Amino acid sequence: VKRKIKVGVIGAGRIGKIHTENIIRYVPQAEIAAVADIYVDRIKDWANDFGIEKLTTDYMEILNDDEIEIVIICSPTDTHSKIIIESAEVGKHIFCEKPIDLDLGKIRQTIKSIDKSGVKFQIGFNRRFDHNFKKIKELIKNGSAGNIYLVKITSWDPEVPPIEYVKVSGGLFLDMAIHDFDMARFLTDSEAKEVYAVGDVFINPAVKDAGDIDTAIVTLRLENGAMVVIDNCRKAPHGYDQRVEVLGSKGFVFTSNDTETTAALGTESGIHSEKPFYFFTQRYKDSYINEILTFFDAVINNKNTPVGAVDGLRPVIMGMAAIKSLKENRPVKIEEVENADL
Ligand SMILES: NC(=O)c1ccc[n+]([C@@H]2O[C@H](COP(=O)([O-])OP(=O)(O)OC[C@H]3O[C@@H](n4cnc5c(N)ncnc54)[C@H](O)[C@@H]3O)[C@@H](O)[C@H]2O)c1
Repeated sequence: VKRKIKVGVIGAGRIGKIHTENIIRYVPQAEIAAVADIYVDRIKDWANDFGIEKLTTDYMEILNDDEIEIVIICSPTDTHSKIIIESAEVGKHIFCEKPIDLDLGKIRQTIKSIDKSGVKFQIGFNRRFDHNFKKIKELIKNGSAGNIYLVKITSWDPEVPPIEYVKVSGGLFLDMAIHDFDMARFLTDSEAKEVYAVGDVFINPAVKDAGDIDTAIVTLRLENGAMVVIDNCRKAPHGYDQRVEVLGSKGFVFTSNDTETTAALGTESGIHSEKPFYFFTQRYKDSYINEILTFFDAVINNKNTPVGAVDGLRPVIMGMAAIKSLKENRPVKIEEVENADL
């Protein structure tokens, strides 16, 4: 019998549990050797249910275990760059949740250390693995839509997150829109040249007190000439709304939201269909499975991971340009932000 690849998970909150369960269910070549979380008491029952034997409060126990080949980093954002660098130094392959960091200097330092070590690295931009968005990319790539003129990305949440979360999130552009910045790059294979953002607080004044916004529109001008509009809102009445539309010289490509069923009820008052799935854990359930399968395939079969370290850098630069644009009320060139800290 072939030995299973040992995996250590660091941080078992919302997303850490999802990845751990998916590895257990869908990656027969791997086993969860240990889970580290500073609040280990909170995860005891869960770990027991999934047959995870080793829990620790100190993730260094995972990094110091020579039998563990892969780390899955799902602790809070402000721990990522440090843990990535430490993991790369001891030669572990790394899957890390987005973003790498909110500081460009730290991201660059982290990328250097990944490159130097030669370990596999994948960053958690799961929406690239969503069935709808994968299909849109395919239709753009195979030329079905022709030359791309414009891309519209809609990304609305069902609820404003707790204010404590908002305060440390990095703000709407780096916490929420970052997935959409990645989507723009993924779909078009082009980088942003210029960013213009408008934003406001409509939903909860506490968001304003925390120095953030809850609603925004971002316009991107891409290097290949195409234009992108991203609209974000923290609370739409009908819930989590995630759609993309692309217009090109030969075709219009678009998706609808995923729903639990496609059943609809027609009555005298109209046709009533279901709301979108409530939030990301349901809507993107399959994308999380696909991204983890892709990562393990890259490690096991020595392939390149499809979402690498540079994909962790570019969307943060776009987010910073959006922040600057909102603050200064003008379009901001990417190079203004990109080179600011060099
Ligand atoms: N790709 C996505 O769709 C997606 C979705 C949610 C979260 N995320 C990202 O995942 C990360 C975690 O988010 P979450 O929502 O799961 O947060 P969470 O607060 O639910 O979970 C974080 C966990 O990490 C633990 N932790 C904190 N410091 C630690 C340390 N030093 N060592 C080990 N464990 C530690 C906490 O106790 C907690 O259990 C964030 O970076 C977030 O941006 C990505």
